[in-house]
Amino acid sequence: MKRSNGSLVLWAGLAVILIAAPNVDARASSEYGQSSDAVHSSAAPSQDKTPAAPADSSDYVGAETCKACHESIYNNWEKTPHWKTTLDVKGGPSRQGCEGCHGPGAAHIAGGGDVTKIFIFGKHSAKEINARCMTCHASGTEHMNAINSLHTKSDVSCISCHSPHHAQTPEFLLVKAQPELCYTCHLDKKAEFEMPFHHRVNEGLVQCTDCHNPHGTVAAKQVRTSAAQDAVCFTCHADKRGPFVFEHEPVKVEGCTSCHTPHGSPNVHLLKVSNVNLLCLSCHTTSFANAPGAPSFHNQAAQYQACTLCHTQIHGSNVDPTFFK
Ligand code: HEC
Ligand code: HEC
Ligand code: HEC
Ligand code: HEC
Ligand code: HEC
Ligand code: HEC
Ligand code: HEC
Ligand code: HEC
Ligand code: HEC
Ligand code: HEC
Repeated sequence: MKRSNGSLVLWAGLAVILIAAPNVDARASSEYGQSSDAVHSSAAPSQDKTPAAPADSSDYVGAETCKACHESIYNNWEKTPHWKTTLDVKGGPSRQGCEGCHGPGAAHIAGGGDVTKIFIFGKHSAKEINARCMTCHASGTEHMNAINSLHTKSDVSCISCHSPHHAQTPEFLLVKAQPELCYTCHLDKKAEFEMPFHHRVNEGLVQCTDCHNPHGTVAAKQVRTSAAQDAVCFTCHADKRGPFVFEHEPVKVEGCTSCHTPHGSPNVHLLKVSNVNLLCLSCHTTSFANAPGAPSFHNQAAQYQACTLCHTQIHGSNVDPTFFK
């Protein structure tokens, strides 16, 4: 950034004027958490009353002031959804504009752009970065598990995936579009989606985040649950939900992944095991917990190997206890 000493002095002068001017938003700073904006309103109230860096309203200068020296950043930022924070009058200056993320800017400006007086994301830990973004994004089902997510625990921060200023996607401010975003760290998964049969993630039909919530979930492996708190698979494969008069126990109890690999498989139906009979017989042996063994007339002559040729309604049936129809 190139600017003359003259303009630095000018802006430092402006900053002094701004600091000295009576701040109409001064009262708002004691009203944190009273915002009507859904993004802010249900953040933990106790957190709201103690901002990370205790600051007076007069330490805030407003986004327009930052524009003077960071014009290209400002012009770009103005087109992102974060621009809306400037409308958050009730949240007060600590929730508005540039300073909603970078903290109060008066001292930074008074020092002619003193970088020790402003929050620089690149110089902070994943935990501190997340905490800053979470002052506004802690509410709602999408983010409620973010603090304890495996990503957070593994030092993956919000800005590993998002960039407020240099986003590469029109939506969600992502550093890269999916699935490449995820493959930067989960390259092994790419091979799974290149198997002969797979959910068409690489083709753009299905997204990693249709099944996973990268912000954390209650379920294992950051797997989402459907709106009815059921297996995520039902959001697209509703016909498998039932309820059926005759349930095939593992579908309900162990879940879809007891038989399917959700990413990809050599099997046309994404089965864990290439040969369906081997899948069935992994449970239908006389020794397996509560699955009845296959009857003895099911000698493994060829005609009995394709189990689902006869047991066609393998996910459950309303008419037949042995899932023939
Ligand atoms: C939503 C939070 C957020 C807001 C709002 C925000 N920034 Fe940033 N800023 C960041 C993050 C995070 C980075 C690190 C780079 C990145 O990930 O984009 C950053 C980086 C920067 C940098 C370093 C240079 C660069 O290009 O990365 C400057 C300068 C900066 N911000 C200024 C501003 C100004 C000026 C505004 C208001 C117009 C602003 N920021 C608004 C989060 C924010
Ligand atoms: C008087 C001019 C001036 C104003 C006004 C100003 N800055 Fe800066 N800022 C600078 C200078 C000079 C630097 C040093 C680094 C550079 O050249 O970009 C800097 C650096 C920064 C950085 C660190 C960039 C990095 O290296 O990662 C951030 C973040 C930042 N400013 C945010 C803000 C915010 C937010 C505001 C408004 C509250 C603001 N600045 C207002 C001059 C200014
Ligand atoms: C591992 C990557 C990753 C990390 C880490 C991550 N996000 Fe996201 N985020 C995404 C993706 C991908 C989307 C796109 C939405 C979708 O497809 O579900 C998204 C969507 C969002 C959205 C918009 C959607 C909504 O419903 O709210 C917000 C806001 C958001 N993220 C904030 C955050 C914050 C705050 C953090 C840090 C606590 C964070 N993200 C960490 C990948 C990530
Ligand atoms: C001062 C409050 C505030 C802070 C701090 C904040 N955000 Fe936001 N964020 C918002 C608001 C408001 C929106 C717009 C919500 C809407 O459009 O409904 C938003 C939207 C988003 C979106 C969705 C963009 C889209 O295209 O829908 C993402 C992603 C996001 N923020 C990420 C972040 C990240 C990452 C950080 C930390 C670097 C952060 N935010 C910090 C208030 C904030
Ligand atoms: C059709 C739904 C679905 C899609 C799409 C999907 N996943 Fe998964 N993924 C799952 C399920 C279900 C599990 C849990 C498997 C288990 O418990 O055996 C899982 C497990 C994982 C795991 C942890 C277990 C392991 O295999 O290492 C990672 C990492 C993962 N997925 C990453 C991704 C990435 C990256 C993408 C996109 C490129 C993606 N997933 C797309 C459903 C999906
Ligand atoms: C910056 C690197 C990074 C990015 C980008 C990233 N992840 Fe991760 N992810 C990790 C790390 C580190 C872990 C911790 C466990 C591990 O090493 O697999 C993890 C864990 C996971 C797990 C849980 C695995 C388990 O065993 O429970 C899933 C699922 C997952 N990521 C999905 C995604 C998806 C989907 C995306 C893209 C939206 C994504 N990740 C983007 C680094 C990343
Ligand atoms: C976002 C929607 C979506 C979700 C969520 C989803 N699927 Fe799929 N699934 C599809 C689509 C679309 C196909 C069609 C195959 C293709 O061409 O990609 C498919 C195909 C399949 C197939 C193969 C169908 C065949 O022709 O034999 C199986 C098995 C399957 N999914 C199981 C699952 C399981 C298990 C889950 C949960 C872990 C799941 N799906 C979650 C959309 C989804
Ligand atoms: C007991 C093992 C088992 C479980 C558990 C299971 N499936 Fe299947 N699934 C199969 C078999 C075997 C096939 C192939 C059927 C055939 O050969 O016609 C199949 C086929 C499919 C197909 C493609 C054919 C069709 O009927 O549409 C989809 C989609 C599917 N399963 C989704 C699911 C979902 C979603 C779940 C979880 C609710 C699930 N499966 C649980 C064994 C299972
Ligand atoms: C993960 C273990 C598991 C797998 C794999 C599995 N089953 Fe089952 N199956 C069970 C259990 C447990 C029951 C017992 C349900 C009960 O008692 O109500 C059962 C019940 C059945 C029944 C009904 C038996 C009766 O008398 O009620 C048939 C038929 C059946 N399975 C066929 C199959 C076929 C065909 C396959 C392969 C496509 C298969 N199963 C795969 C666990 C499994
Ligand atoms: C040619 C058709 C056919 C094929 C193929 C077939 N079965 Fe069956 N299966 C039957 C018949 C007939 C019954 C007896 C139904 C009854 O008792 O009403 C049966 C019953 C069962 C039962 C219930 C046993 C009980 O005690 O209640 C299980 C479990 C079973 N089969 C598993 C399998 C498995 C595993 C395979 C593949 C290795 C398979 N079947 C292939 C026709 C078939």
